[in-house]
This record gives sequence, C-alpha cells and structure tokens, in this order.
Amino acid sequence: MSVRRLAPDAVQPKEFAFSAANDDWANGQIAKYPKGREASAVIPLLWMAQEQAGGWLPQKAIETVGRKLGMPYMRVFEIATFYTMFNLQPVGEHFVQVCGTVPCHLKGAREIIKVCEDRIGPQSTVTADGKLSWLEVECLGACCNAPMVQINYDYYEDLTPENFAALLDNLRAGKPVKTGSQIGRSCSEPEGGGETLKDAALYDGSAVGRGGWQQRVTSEREAAKKAAAEAEAAKLAAAASAGPASAAPGAAPATASPTPSRPAPAASPSNVTQDTPAAGGAAIKGSAADKGGVASVTGAAAPSSPAVGAASASTPVSAAAPSDADKPAMLAGPRQGKGDDLKLIWGVGPKLEAMLHGMGIWHFDQVAGWTDKELAWVDAHLEGFKGRASRDGWIGQAKKLATGWRPESALGDKPTK
Ligand code: FES
Repeated sequence: MSVRRLAPDAVQPKEFAFSAANDDWANGQIAKYPKGREASAVIPLLWMAQEQAGGWLPQKAIETVGRKLGMPYMRVFEIATFYTMFNLQPVGEHFVQVCGTVPCHLKGAREIIKVCEDRIGPQSTVTADGKLSWLEVECLGACCNAPMVQINYDYYEDLTPENFAALLDNLRAGKPVKTGSQIGRSCSEPEGGGETLKDAALYDGSAVGRGGWQQRVTSEREAAKKAAAEAEAAKLAAAASAGPASAAPGAAPATASPTPSRPAPAASPSNVTQDTPAAGGAAIKGSAADKGGVASVTGAAAPSSPAVGAASASTPVSAAAPSDADKPAMLAGPRQGKGDDLKLIWGVGPKLEAMLHGMGIWHFDQVAGWTDKELAWVDAHLEGFKGRASRDGWIGQAKKLATGWRPESALGDKPTK
C-alpha cells in the first residue's frame, strides 16, 4: 500500500478554481442534499476537481472543495487521503494502477510491478515524457483474471511480464492496445473456454421438450387408463358371476334389490358360499368379509345392509348415504399372495392399510377403478378416517401407482389441490 501524502510544494499549483461548467455541475450535486448536509457532496466534488486538475488532487483543489461545501480543510484532507481513487501526486497520461492483493499476488503481480519499476520508475513518479506513472492498489475486483492492472478507465487482465511490457510500450507509442483479457478469454470464463453448459440447447428454451417427458406422461396416462379399464372389466365380470347367485332359490326377490343391475346381497349361507371367491383372489361380493353378507347369514340387522333393505323395504335409506350396492369389488386375499404397498398412497398409513386389507382391498388397480359411488362407500367405511379417500384423491394416486410409477417418498406423493 502506498503512503498517502500530498505532493511536494514544487509541483503544487498556486491556485485552483472550478471552471464555470464544473461549478454548475458541483452546484447540482450539492442541491441533491438537504440544507446543512452539503458535505455529503464531498466525494463527487473531489472527483470532479481531480478530473479538472489532470488526474490528481492538488492541495488548492482540496481547499476549494472545502470552501464550497463549508467544511474544515482537514475534514476534506481526511477523505482525499483515505480513498486511493484520489491521487495526491501528479499522474502520467496513462496512469497504471497495479493490483497487489493476494489473488493477483499469487498469480504474478510482483512480476508486473517489477515491469512498472523497470519501464516507468518508482511508484507515484511520472516518466520524463509525462506518458506513464503507476501505483500499487488493493483488489480491483477482477481477481478471476489475475494478475491485472487498471490504466485510466480500462482493465487489462491475464497479464504476463511480456505482454504487460508490450502493452506499456504500445501505450507510450500511441499505438492501439487491447483492453480486457490479454490471452483472449471471454470475460472470466476458464482459460481455453468453458467446460460446462456447452450444449446451446440447454439455454435456448428448448430444454423443456428434451428427455421425452411428453412421451413419458402420455404413456403413463395410457397405462393408467388401461389399468382402470381392466379393473372395471374385472369388476363387471365379478358382478356377472355373482348375478345368478342372487337368482338362486332363497335369494331375495328382485324387486327388493336396491340396484337391480348389481347382484342381490347374500340371503342365505349357500349364497355366502357361492359369493366367496376362489383362492386365486377373484372378486367377491357378500363374502364373509362383507358385513352385509354376514349380517344376512346371522340375521343381524346391519343398518346399511342391503339384506335389511330387502327384508325391510319400508325402511327408507338416505339418498346421500352410500348403500352396500355401491360397495366396490373386493378380494378375499391378494393376488399371487402379495398385495401392493397401499401405504404409497398419500394418507394411507399402516392402520388404514390394515383396514383396507380387512375390506378386501389389496391392489392399486382396485382403487384406480372405483366409481364415485364406490369411493363414497369406502370413505363411509373408513372408521376413524371417514372422507380420507376423497380428500386425498386416492383414485388419482392409485391410477398413477398402477402404472408402475413410484413416488420418491415412502409416504406417497402428496396430492396438489
Ligand atoms: S486481487 Fe487483484 S483484482 Fe482482486
């Protein structure tokens, strides 16, 4: 760091005054601040005084600024001597500020300073032809391209003793010079060019369509649709196979069935046997797991049981309340002895999963194929969790899961509302 002293008397001009234009400009700066706060304009005024004086601040210029702002001279000297942007010594036509801070130091700033000493002379002296002077300063914010110098208003980066010496020679000779990196790199990218983000398509806006995500989404939707159709077909097949049972001797009269298109609920032990699926896991209706069926077997009067509807047709059932006719197809057990992990449906934990298993729900495609009424039936039977299936969109989740898609979390993919 250089010593910040006023230039010797020998080089100090005898007087200084702002030019008319600069005085107008200075008044404009002062007017930006409230009355009594004119001192806030001290830095811009010192800067303009330096510009007018040829790149440095004579003592008379500092005093002029103090007078204009009503400041004690010492206060203005304190500012002028603190900031290295103010030169207290005369400077050359090309004023070289060499960064000597750590990154530049590590990359060879000492060699650059050596070139300055050799070609220009001691720090803060001007060459005999008035062309060059230099000063060591702190970081100029171009560390990536160290070592570097600032010459007047331009930066020169990636310097070597050789290219810097040539640069000084060209400036002195009035030849054109290249600003910025002296080794041709663009801004502060790595030497030799960037090594990342080279694919222009990454930032030309087309990345959205890359990776075939549209195809993936389309195929996922198709698979979900197919799984839902298959589940619906399986349900219809189960309903069809259960149909004749309702017509078997002892079955409830057709007129007593709340939904004629669906099989009548079991009304006798023989019906329970018929409706029980094979061990392979065919869909069941009115199985032992079906409380309505059990009720009809035991004769107990379950409130929502269709058996009750058949036996007590005069008892009105609320139109809003799902009846057992809306009960979705259930399984006696998981297919191939292994059910899906229903806990991957957001909102289903171990307790709910056990409850679903108890109902005969083991697979995603079962849930995916529910109708609105069936969903309502399940919701009404989730003791302690009523409404959970609708609220958490189980059908939509199950459709995705049935395609083989899996959420990142074992808790499932929280549905967005
Ligand atoms: S250290 Fe030299 S520019 Fe930052």
